[in-house]
Amino acid sequence: MSFSTEIAKRRTFGIISHPDAGKTTLTEKLLMFGGAIQMAGAVKARKASRHATSDWMKIEQERGISVASSVMKFNYRDFEINLLDTPGHQDFSEDTYRVLTAVDSAMMVIDSASGVEAQTEKLMEVCRMRNTPIVTFINKLDREGLEPLDLLTDIEEKLQIECTPMSWPVGMGKRFKGVYNLYKKELNLFKAGAKTNDFDTVKINDLSDPKLDELLGSQADELRGDIELLEGAADPFNLEQFLLGSQTPVFFGSAVNNFGVKELLDAFVELSPAPGPREAVERTVHPDEPGFSAFCFKIQANMDPAHRDRIAFFRICSGKFKKGMTVRHHRLGKDVKIPNATIFMAQDRAHIEEAYAGDIIGIHNHGTIKIGDTFTTKEALKFTGIPNFAPELFRRIRLKDPMKRKQLHKGLVQLSEEGAVQVFKTLLGGDYILGAVGVLQFDVTVARLNAEYKVDADYVATDFQIARWVTAEDDKKMSEFRRLFESSLSEDADGFLSYLAPSAWKLNYTEEQWPAITFHKTREHI
Ligand code: G4P
Repeated sequence: MSFSTEIAKRRTFGIISHPDAGKTTLTEKLLMFGGAIQMAGAVKARKASRHATSDWMKIEQERGISVASSVMKFNYRDFEINLLDTPGHQDFSEDTYRVLTAVDSAMMVIDSASGVEAQTEKLMEVCRMRNTPIVTFINKLDREGLEPLDLLTDIEEKLQIECTPMSWPVGMGKRFKGVYNLYKKELNLFKAGAKTNDFDTVKINDLSDPKLDELLGSQADELRGDIELLEGAADPFNLEQFLLGSQTPVFFGSAVNNFGVKELLDAFVELSPAPGPREAVERTVHPDEPGFSAFCFKIQANMDPAHRDRIAFFRICSGKFKKGMTVRHHRLGKDVKIPNATIFMAQDRAHIEEAYAGDIIGIHNHGTIKIGDTFTTKEALKFTGIPNFAPELFRRIRLKDPMKRKQLHKGLVQLSEEGAVQVFKTLLGGDYILGAVGVLQFDVTVARLNAEYKVDADYVATDFQIARWVTAEDDKKMSEFRRLFESSLSEDADGFLSYLAPSAWKLNYTEEQWPAITFHKTREHI
């Protein structure tokens, strides 16, 4: 098969949603359509075990499984799909954000009863950084929820993206009869508890068709009214706008009942983009270039903590990976041979012979790979758009044995290189402040410091609530700022200056007072 055919059939995406909107349920149904799992409950069981505890050793024991669930590869029709997990709930972390830098599109799941919620807003912000195309699934129509039009308005207002319905629901909750596909002009009739996609589909060419009244009773006129309203209110689907990330096609359904999922997946593979060009500092890299290039977006600790064994996840940007190939690790300026790379299936992992642009491969890492590192068989490239995200939660670390300061430093640097947590060293006093975007990271860090670096530490609270990296063109202004704000300044693990503020109000005030200083919410890996 030719190179470009291999690339054209790949789809690499992540699901963005707020906890409980139905991401796990939907993932499971998608995997079932792809034949990747046979049994409902497989993904779910994993999720339940993961969240039943925040005890790190138990989490670690389950890592073998969760590594596999970080990326799930499956086939559907002629497509090869890489579904990247965006961890939610307590394990919501910077990783969750960073996974989105490795995808070509996203699926957004919204609970029809809740509308847009906080975590979706945050993830959407990351999608917007690269104008990632997004397909929306409004879930749980079998329950009472918000009016469909109100949901679309909510998405448009909160997420600043235009909605274009592809299907329209008939009723909801007890009155939920199905969805009308506006483009195929078909009515899919809802049946609760379907195991497969065995729903009745009725072709309705003209909304005045009396068949509609037979099937829907009094709700036929409601549908007619809704659609008339929509014709005036919603713009039609526009592929270009979708690919620019400014319009999202919207589907309605019920994941747990497998209703509307196949339509979603079909539209998704047809509309969403194959791996495209990627920006590097040096130039734009095209997926069908012959030379191999890939960047690391995630590092995950492996099963055996004693070996400090990690898997580095790479997204291939161009060329072809071949087992045993030698690539250049540009940050270290060294050639490395990759004897084995792993590709992750839904419940399994396998060593692979070859992989193409868009694929995610796992490479063993003994501490030499950092997030943002690039491997190529060509010139040095530094892919952009894999930033550090300003943490939202802070703790000051307290070392129980002062003699272990060196080990603490080493452990924190390595854990921050993995992207597990961010480390800031205060200019005054040299204390370590840890920053994370999810609270679980703090427990994991202390447990790993203990298990892997033999460092006994815990936390004390800090007043800090917000971090911003600071830069200035004017050196004099920067020195003045440094002098006056010394007690709020620290350096991150790579030596970049960061301002830690006790409140959003204080940050805003400081920003207003110091126009010569730029406050950055994200920082690119150098
Ligand atoms: P998440 O990964 O986004 O956190 O959500 P998850 O799929 O776990 O779904 C959260 C809850 O919503 C689950 O119920 C799930 O069964 C339910 N759910 C998902 N899709 C639908 C749907 O289309 N309709 C309805 N009515 N519920 C749906 P739970 O009570 O938390 O778990 P369980 O009892 O199913 O195990």
